[in-house]
Amino acid sequence: MSYIAVSAPGKCILFGEHAVVYGQPAVAVALDQRITVKIQVSQTGTWLLDGNRLNMNRNPHICALIEKLWPAEMGAPPLSIHIESSIPRSSGLGSSAALSVAFAGALRLARGRWITKHGSIEKRHWAEGFGSHITTTNPYDSSHGFCVDLPIGELFHVSGAMAVDDDENAILAHGVEAAAQNGRASPIDSSTCSHGEIVVISDIIESELTHFYERKLTTPEGNIIWQIHGVELSDQPDEVYLVIGNTGINAPTGKQVAKVARLIKQHPEKIEVIETIGKIARRGIKALMRGDFDAVGRTMSENQLMLKSIGMSSPELDALIKAATPSSLGAKLTGAGGGGCMVALTRNPQQTCDAIELAGGRTLISKLGSHGFNIETSEISTIWMKT
Ligand code: MEV
Repeated sequence: MSYIAVSAPGKCILFGEHAVVYGQPAVAVALDQRITVKIQVSQTGTWLLDGNRLNMNRNPHICALIEKLWPAEMGAPPLSIHIESSIPRSSGLGSSAALSVAFAGALRLARGRWITKHGSIEKRHWAEGFGSHITTTNPYDSSHGFCVDLPIGELFHVSGAMAVDDDENAILAHGVEAAAQNGRASPIDSSTCSHGEIVVISDIIESELTHFYERKLTTPEGNIIWQIHGVELSDQPDEVYLVIGNTGINAPTGKQVAKVARLIKQHPEKIEVIETIGKIARRGIKALMRGDFDAVGRTMSENQLMLKSIGMSSPELDALIKAATPSSLGAKLTGAGGGGCMVALTRNPQQTCDAIELAGGRTLISKLGSHGFNIETSEISTIWMKT
């Protein structure tokens, strides 16, 4: 029976977590660790997740994407979903964003896309979908995403890789992340898991980077606008690695993000820390562009001091960071903090791993950047399309 398999990488934030929620710059890299999502028509007539009945309440990301891309009321059949992942869950490495990106892409592949011009994949010819350029559909609510009001008879259908789009996967993942984080979510996780490699978010369009698109979100703190970019490093940094140290403590992102919002509400002067993190991230971006990894590492350690000062670190994270520091260029928590993971930039990955493990952490090694969303099946046949 035909199935569709896709994958997306986890992510690790080098600079700017939490501050990016308030529109400050940030940098994240896609990790070697990935999630693979496989879908096929369910033989039992009900939604299945890894062989068991899918519990929609326990899987809000999956549920929200089904609502947007796979409407049962239009005849889309229940699917069987199978997930395999080497990204630890709830630990700051983007497991939910990677899942959302992969599942959004799998559903798009499964239905293909209606377009207004034969053979075109240009976004201006999309008859349906979500993307930063579309203002007629809202990826942040539960709409189905038809953007052109034309009878199906006047449209053309594309399938396979031609139907999938990184911006669409990322914006849909951002929508479900925002819902899970009470409306406060930056696009850093979703865009990095979709595009891969290194993603820079800024409050301005950075002329020396590749500008992908703009994202806007109305958060409880106001309207935030982010400019999303990709980075091409001049030299592939073969000699530096990321070592991730996992405390094994789950720390839900939504709670940590809400904690920062409360802190700023109670102590408005703390917004200065957020702005300082933005300035540090900006220095980090410059160091990265120069390929000056010693400076990148120092900047990461500076970022950690700021995150600690707003209560985002934890004794367990501090212990792993301290253990990693002597053998690395810099180390900090990564993601929401409070538990989860730290990251060290190092030229001695094995030595840094050994030190972190001695201090009680579990470790992973990754290159600095990996490929984004990927189709893993060679033959794709459309499972369902809106008619
Ligand atoms: C979580 O990976 C990063 C945070 O900045 C939240 C967000 O950007 O949405 C803590």
